[in-house]
Amino acid sequence: MGRQVCDAVEAADGLEVVARIDVGQDPKLAVAAGAEVAVDFTNPEATLGNIEFCVANGISVVVGTSGFGPDKVARVEELLAGNSEVGILIAPNFSLGAVLMMKFAAQASAFFESVEIVELHHPNKLDAPSGTALRTAQLIAEARKAAGVGRSPDATAEDADHHRGGKVDDVTIHSVRLRGLIAHQEVLLGGVGETLTIRHDSLDRASFMPGVLLGVREVAKHPGLTIGLEHYLSL
Ligand SMILES: NC(=O)c1ccc[n+]([C@@H]2O[C@H](COP(=O)([O-])OP(=O)(O)OC[C@H]3O[C@@H](n4cnc5c(N)ncnc54)[C@H](O)[C@@H]3O)[C@@H](O)[C@H]2O)c1
Repeated sequence: MGRQVCDAVEAADGLEVVARIDVGQDPKLAVAAGAEVAVDFTNPEATLGNIEFCVANGISVVVGTSGFGPDKVARVEELLAGNSEVGILIAPNFSLGAVLMMKFAAQASAFFESVEIVELHHPNKLDAPSGTALRTAQLIAEARKAAGVGRSPDATAEDADHHRGGKVDDVTIHSVRLRGLIAHQEVLLGGVGETLTIRHDSLDRASFMPGVLLGVREVAKHPGLTIGLEHYLSL
């Protein structure tokens, strides 16, 4: 992702790559090169340190790394409390199609009794469920709560080995890991006598680049913490 982001930034009007930093390299290179925005696609252990460094140096950050949990988000909020000028965008998914899928799924979930998420990825993925599925579940839970819709009906009484999947905010998520897949998600919605399926397929990592570039252009204009690219889009 890092290499592809550098290529996309180089090719974009009005943007320039001033530093490329891999593990073991000194992030001060970015400060010396006058970086205004940093993009982090590393791993959850490295990201927090990178954000701390950037905030201390007045550099806004676009974070794509997944598996960035609530405790780390809370730490970022603490860091930003003393640095109101810096913007941080944490986006579970930079694909515009995936952002729309999450938005539409949350909207639709207020009108259906049942909802479940199936996320499907390549078998090299480290985290389950995916960051996108987690975020979708949170958005669905918020939309259903606001609309006064209760839990999805489920009579399962015996499931010691979790064959029914995991739950996030009472929304069931099933994680599939299969050779040949890239990144896919279905949101299954059910009401009496009908179902609706909203599906998104990422077929190439190039699909993330328009969203990353939007993040790079916008992040410094949005001081503080923003979670989700949807906040930079007029939906
Ligand atoms: N949000 C999205 O839309 C999206 C899309 C694709 C991937 N991702 C996530 O992005 C992350 C990276 O994915 P990838 O496929 O590029 O992984 P990768 O393993 O190919 O690349 C990660 C890179 O980070 C480098 N790195 C590790 N620690 C570092 C540090 N402290 N400073 C600088 N560089 C460091 C590694 O050397 C490696 O080159 C993963 O968490 C993945 O799930 C998110």
